[in-house]
Amino acid sequence: MVKFLFSLLLVLPFSSDQPTKTRSTNQIDKVEQKMELIPYPKSIKKEIGKFELTGNFEINAPIELSNEKKYLTNLLTDILITLPANKLEVNSFQTNLVLAIDPTIPDAENAEAYQLKIQANELRIAGSSPIGVMRGIQTLRQLIGTNAYASTKQLAIALPCVTINDAPAFPHRGLLLDVCRHFFDKKVVFKYIDALAYYKMNVLHFHLTEDQGWRIPIAKYPKLTEISAWRTEADGSIYGGSYTTEELKEIVAYASERHITVIPEIELPGHAQAALAAYPHLSCAGGPISVANDWGVFKEIFCAGNDSTFVFLEDVLTEVMAIFPSEYIHIGGDEAPKFRWEHCDKCKKRMTDEGLNDAHELQSYFIKRIEKFLNKNGRKLIGWDEILEGGLSPTATVQSWRGMDGGLEAARTEHEVIMSPTSHCYLDYSLAAIDLQKIYGFNPIPPELEEKFHKYILGGECNIWTEHVPNEQNLDSKVFPRMIALAEVLWSAPKQPNFDDFYNRLQSHYSWLEKQGIAYGMESIGAQIRFEFQEDSIQIHLDKSLSNLTLKYRWSEKDEFQAYTTPIALNRSGILEVQAFKAGKIYGNPIKQTISTHLALNSSVTYSSEFHRWYAGTEKKNLVDGRIGSLDFRDGTWQGFFGRNVEVELDLGKIQSISKIACNFYQYSNSWIFFPSTVEVSVSKDQKKWSETRIFSTNSIDLSNKKRILPVEIQLNEKGKKLPARYIRFKATNIGVVPNGHEAAGQPAWLFIDEIEVK
Ligand code: ACM
Ligand code: ZN
Repeated sequence: MVKFLFSLLLVLPFSSDQPTKTRSTNQIDKVEQKMELIPYPKSIKKEIGKFELTGNFEINAPIELSNEKKYLTNLLTDILITLPANKLEVNSFQTNLVLAIDPTIPDAENAEAYQLKIQANELRIAGSSPIGVMRGIQTLRQLIGTNAYASTKQLAIALPCVTINDAPAFPHRGLLLDVCRHFFDKKVVFKYIDALAYYKMNVLHFHLTEDQGWRIPIAKYPKLTEISAWRTEADGSIYGGSYTTEELKEIVAYASERHITVIPEIELPGHAQAALAAYPHLSCAGGPISVANDWGVFKEIFCAGNDSTFVFLEDVLTEVMAIFPSEYIHIGGDEAPKFRWEHCDKCKKRMTDEGLNDAHELQSYFIKRIEKFLNKNGRKLIGWDEILEGGLSPTATVQSWRGMDGGLEAARTEHEVIMSPTSHCYLDYSLAAIDLQKIYGFNPIPPELEEKFHKYILGGECNIWTEHVPNEQNLDSKVFPRMIALAEVLWSAPKQPNFDDFYNRLQSHYSWLEKQGIAYGMESIGAQIRFEFQEDSIQIHLDKSLSNLTLKYRWSEKDEFQAYTTPIALNRSGILEVQAFKAGKIYGNPIKQTISTHLALNSSVTYSSEFHRWYAGTEKKNLVDGRIGSLDFRDGTWQGFFGRNVEVELDLGKIQSISKIACNFYQYSNSWIFFPSTVEVSVSKDQKKWSETRIFSTNSIDLSNKKRILPVEIQLNEKGKKLPARYIRFKATNIGVVPNGHEAAGQPAWLFIDEIEVK
């Protein structure tokens, strides 16, 4: 029986002004209304009454829960005042906490299942295993609420009586952290592990090696930390670093206390330029090679024909396994250009000796050899979906990133799958591409996957690649709050509450994030500009990204913003600027879309070459929707053609007087996007006789990493006179393959176009 010495013990939070009984009761009522838990538990049964958590607690736990007992003890002593014995009544003022292993709780077959039962005289967390107990402690941590983490400790915290039964939908719920493109020290990693724990994520996918830096010491190969960990930036400065073995062990231990698995990723055969800079004899051409100082996919990869490569990698993996006890080891496998292998005598000999038909089969041989080694050491291999190419290793787990198709194929052949498609899980992408709601709509099980294969989908991860994430604040703003949406999806799918419900609960989590020192970012960009094509007009809809926003828009910086109420007819050129407001305050940056009206607006377009579904824009209207592209090639206005030309015919509906055709192309060598070699147009009144053929040579391939837009304007009549035409044939010739001198030379090139303006 809990008895109180002072009436002020009920107050939450503890403050210097004298509390009253009435006030404390109000506080408790408030607690009872709020169950702002994320991820939302499977079942919550609220009961009458309350439980008093005080600093003078006793935790009753069996020996196998000593880790959880210690964790909970530390958690509570951090926030509660422990009164000295002489201030307590004899045998009173004890909070009774019980931690238990209980195989009779619901979903007990799931090691992460737990039951949190709060009664007036006892708080009990039972798990089917210590892991479940830890998940339950995290729920308690959220129930305690943010206020408890005040700078002053509390005397008591009131909790509502409740029974929560809970278990996750997916066993693999992770975050990939790239510490190579930019390095983050162990304190940041601890902060992330703790936030993962709070949101019941259970995997930190630790991306430790890259072209731009190697971050794990390997005793047998000291140059990996002496040379591979450091790069010389374009401005001459030196950037880099690595963890010590001791630090990595601390990270593993910190995660392990919270029952989070750290899965290390050692990239092979590609994304290995930093290692090859230190040990160039492991490359096909022998070097010299330097640690990369820009972003991209590089052709220097481990030589598959050289046995020393496998000796090196097995040595490395042996030391990696000694630090990381995880069952799974990630070996990358993505984005390995085959150029070097195709021109390497050793690699060619390996292909002949092993009866391999092409470089993809050689990669498959490479991965299978590493897989055998890991399996022999009792570990399992995870690789990116490229490991499907050339034949999948028998026991490999596939992490699907280029959409869900790789995962679909792997699951259908009874391989385990982790889903992290670029469409929903890439937190390095802008909010315009992936916002909170988009992630909340993620389902790691592809709808077309037959039920019997669902069990192979282990779960998902969100990935934070850090090319453009130079510091901790930047990292926080990209990961939060978006990661929290994924945490709920993976724990609760497919029965997660709706987005609005999640969004409302999330609001109360921001103060907790602040107290953790997490500089969280925005939830969405506020508004989307959506085009609706009707028979004879285009309507612009402004969709607010969150239900509690209002929107205003204007066509020019000189205009006043006006409230958006009904769709806007597209009948003028300009820069449409949309600003969202939340509770009367500006929410996020304005969204801008350059619009050009022209004679082909909304006309019918017949494609004789296919655009890629990843960059479809408004599909068959994209080239005539009036939207002009920005320097962000993922802004949705650009249409991408992969290894193909743009070949279309426009029908203006009737004969019009035209004088010129204008369009823009995009170039960004890093992403294999190049200007076309030529642009060709011809016009016709009747689709039979074609005339006024004009060819424009662009001749401006640029291998630098600059993002550029090339405006092309083709005058149809030299004298500037207009000419009658109804049909327009348009062809932009793709350069075909990525040019020589580029790391991905020979791979299909992208051609990007935004609009075909007819004037
Ligand atoms: C990846 O994003 N290259 C896995
Ligand atoms: Zn080779």
